[in-house]
Amino acid sequence: MKIDVCLGCRKCFDEGESACPGKDDVIELYNKIRSEDLIIIGGPVYVEDVNGILKNWIDRMAFNCHRPELFNQKAYVVLNSGSGASWHAVKTIERALMSWGMTVLGRRKLVLGAHSDAGLVNEKYRELLKTDMEKVIKKANNKNKPTLLQLITFSIQQCYYKNKADKQTYDYKYWKNKGFLEDRNYYFSQADGNTFTRIISRMTGKIIAKVLLK
Ligand SMILES: Cc1cc2nc3c(=O)[nH]c(=O)nc-3n(C[C@H](O)[C@H](O)[C@H](O)COP(=O)(O)O)c2cc1C
Repeated sequence: MKIDVCLGCRKCFDEGESACPGKDDVIELYNKIRSEDLIIIGGPVYVEDVNGILKNWIDRMAFNCHRPELFNQKAYVVLNSGSGASWHAVKTIERALMSWGMTVLGRRKLVLGAHSDAGLVNEKYRELLKTDMEKVIKKANNKNKPTLLQLITFSIQQCYYKNKADKQTYDYKYWKNKGFLEDRNYYFSQADGNTFTRIISRMTGKIIAKVLLK
């Protein structure tokens, strides 16, 4: 698919993702992901991080950090490299997915590439990946449960939009119209943790927001 670089115009933040001047496949891909339960994200590691195409895609999806829509979607991350893909690259992807609301059900680093011997690769990874997939599919049937970090991030964003945000912005209207500014909401979805994690995340979020939004 065609994925251009982000130009940094911020139109996706201020006017909505459809105002992006990039006329490529990003929105089509986004809509496709929204219609799926589980996605597998993969690609080669370049210089200890995700490759440029993957990073371009992550950048172009940045509007989702402000207006997460993927809190019902789950992901499995699989990276390949010449010598054992770095956790740094895995983290780059995971951080992005989690800020979009997604739940990462598994991750795997593989030493392989287009020039690897297919037979050897099969021998080395077939069973491993099969086991991974069995585990992922089992977990995929469960309802998404946000992590404490996701709950805290929601709480910080909620404080921001309630107290500081310009009420005319596209982001503010999204949070308001979706009901996310109401106190009864602790996360974007109803699967929002037990009472203890709710209280802890809201308290922590409020404290962090107070410091950050001074
Ligand atoms: C520009 C570039 C940077 C790379 N950087 C790394 C790296 O930092 N660490 C690593 O283990 N392999 C690195 N590699 C190796 C690739 O990850 C490896 O060859 C991988 O198997 C390529 O997969 P592909 O054949 O599916 O494209 C790099 C390769 C390229 C072309």
